[in-house]
Amino acid sequence: MACRNLRGPLVNKKPLRILNVVGARPNFVKIAPIMAAYAKFPNDIDAVLLHTGQHYDDSMSRSFFADLELPQPRINLGVGSASHARQTAAIMVKFEDQLAIIRPQLVVVVGDVNSTMACALVCAKEHIRVAHVEAGLRSFDRNMPEEINRMVTDRLADLLFTTCEEANVNLASEGIGSEKIFLVGNTMIDALVSLRPKYEAAGAAARFGLNSTPFAFVTIHRPSNVDDKPILAGICDALQCLQHERKLFWPLHPRTKSRLKQHGLWQAVNRMTNLIITDPLGYIDSMSVMASSSLVLTDSGGIQEETTALGIPCLTLRNNTERNITILEGTNELVGNKPEGIVRRAKEILQSGGKRGRIPRLWDGKAATRIVDLILGLVPN
Ligand code: UD1
Repeated sequence: MACRNLRGPLVNKKPLRILNVVGARPNFVKIAPIMAAYAKFPNDIDAVLLHTGQHYDDSMSRSFFADLELPQPRINLGVGSASHARQTAAIMVKFEDQLAIIRPQLVVVVGDVNSTMACALVCAKEHIRVAHVEAGLRSFDRNMPEEINRMVTDRLADLLFTTCEEANVNLASEGIGSEKIFLVGNTMIDALVSLRPKYEAAGAAARFGLNSTPFAFVTIHRPSNVDDKPILAGICDALQCLQHERKLFWPLHPRTKSRLKQHGLWQAVNRMTNLIITDPLGYIDSMSVMASSSLVLTDSGGIQEETTALGIPCLTLRNNTERNITILEGTNELVGNKPEGIVRRAKEILQSGGKRGRIPRLWDGKAATRIVDLILGLVPN
């Protein structure tokens, strides 16, 4: 299935210029293995990294570049935070200017954030080929901004690289031609595999005082879980109850921290004696802590996949997921966002040890190599 580059060394031929877009935290993880795979073809590929600046705090952006050994972006659009329309529009305007300067033969976008969709849309209008990494995932819930981003990006992309068979089926059912779709595996798992020695040596759990007792790792940031006061209060009630069973460790996304304060829940959370709250963690510390936890409670997309790869039970605080494979094959379960459901299942898992899964096909640390082989074989320069 992987297509070999048969062109041999290039003589008097310009390298293929590939512009790679990142904007938000999970994008950095997904692109890092691809940038590393390009580096094996210095004569064939001129890879340019562009950061839209959707995430900009040190803890949400800069620390990931160091942890993931990701080269500094050649361009940073510096768009920052805004409403969906304003942020998407700001990315489009600034990205269009850069496209005219860089003139790539291919643009690679990853994941499902606003930066992904905004740049794919500009490329389509400028007749520049787009490859979408992590194509075809569907929650079938259009209330999620990410679902809109996924649908639009996939409709516009010329090459669609998928993580699982179900994504291929979703794309086929939307009428996308099979000649554009390639099941390659999961580049987020590539990062997990290649950086394992680093996060295993990091000992982050001990640094946070978590080495002596089992603990659960919590991450919550979806607007559907944090923007509405009764829902966030219910999740806090669940944590209040669970901290009597197990120590909890909760790195806070800036959106979650500001909503806890805005909804008057900040003091109650800080009074929980068996709950540790921190700023957002970098990639290595995050994986280091997560790998030594006994249960993960999350609403993140990537963490559903990472827990499946690590074999750690994961409760997803949503009613749906675009990553169904982590439920069918992995350690993930949906528990919604009501306190009773969260507490009941978390307690059962803490007693029984939870679901045992298997690692999905092609989540083997080699997805980025497959992607780069395919690009070299398919994209003319
Ligand atoms: C975005 C993605 C989401 C992804 C998440 C990962 C979209 C629509 N959403 O959500 O899919 O799971 O990133 O983290 O693209 N903020 C800071 N500092 C930062 C970045 C954000 O303080 O560096 C605050 C701002 O107040 C901002 C809020 O967080 O308004 C939300 O940031 P934004 O990028 O709009 O969405 P996320 O919730 O991070």
